[in-house]
Amino acid sequence: MNIEWNIERFEEVASTQDILKNSSANSEGHVIVADRQTQGRGRYARQWFDGEGNLMFSFALEPRCEARFIGQLSLIIGLAVHNALQGFIDTPEKLMLKWPNDVLLEGEKCCGILIESSLSSSGLIDKLFVGIGINVLQAPDDMGVSLSRYSSSSLMPSDVLHAVLGQVESLYTRFQNGEAEVLLHEWSAYAHEIGQPIEVKPHEGVLKGRYDGLDELGNLYLRLEDESRKTISAADIFLL
Ligand code: BTN
Repeated sequence: MNIEWNIERFEEVASTQDILKNSSANSEGHVIVADRQTQGRGRYARQWFDGEGNLMFSFALEPRCEARFIGQLSLIIGLAVHNALQGFIDTPEKLMLKWPNDVLLEGEKCCGILIESSLSSSGLIDKLFVGIGINVLQAPDDMGVSLSRYSSSSLMPSDVLHAVLGQVESLYTRFQNGEAEVLLHEWSAYAHEIGQPIEVKPHEGVLKGRYDGLDELGNLYLRLEDESRKTISAADIFLL
């Protein structure tokens, strides 16, 4: 199954994610990429830094699978970005995945992924809107890291874009062909280890415990101090 990528470029937009969502042409393969974003947004309505020379884009997929599989898709997109970025830095072994889909370089965030969806009346994922920000040349002063810090060659955001879209196409096709379980194993190979102490911040409060793997839908298992296990489907996690 090939995705026909249709790339629309802008110099400046408020948010590529909103342009895509509001476009009447947002069918599978439609990509919005911008050099600058004035209101780039992240998960939990956080702001996203738009440094010059960074990559900011959003694309649409139409998986038409049940909504419960969204967690798998979220991890698979993170894995696709991770795999693509390996080709752009001198030390690919320093890349790592953090649940659900952050990509870290030596423990610091170099990419953020925002996933939003719309469901059909029968509960299928009609559209998946995937927004990706990659710190190619710059990172915000207070957090994060750029790819350029780990690369001896000059990096072009458009090369990174094409590599990521290529990986998304390849992994998404495997997902559609029933390979989700294998893909989650591949994700786990690049993620924090079982037993890693973590702090989980769901919508409210904080939970501390140890990472205890994924369930078959890509939810996180948190092992609490009393050894009970909690399933987390949406939260930010912090590695301790
Ligand atoms: C996060 O880590 O919280 C997700 C950040 C996602 C940022 C990207 S940049 C391109 C796209 N447009 C947006 O407004 N947000 C996403």
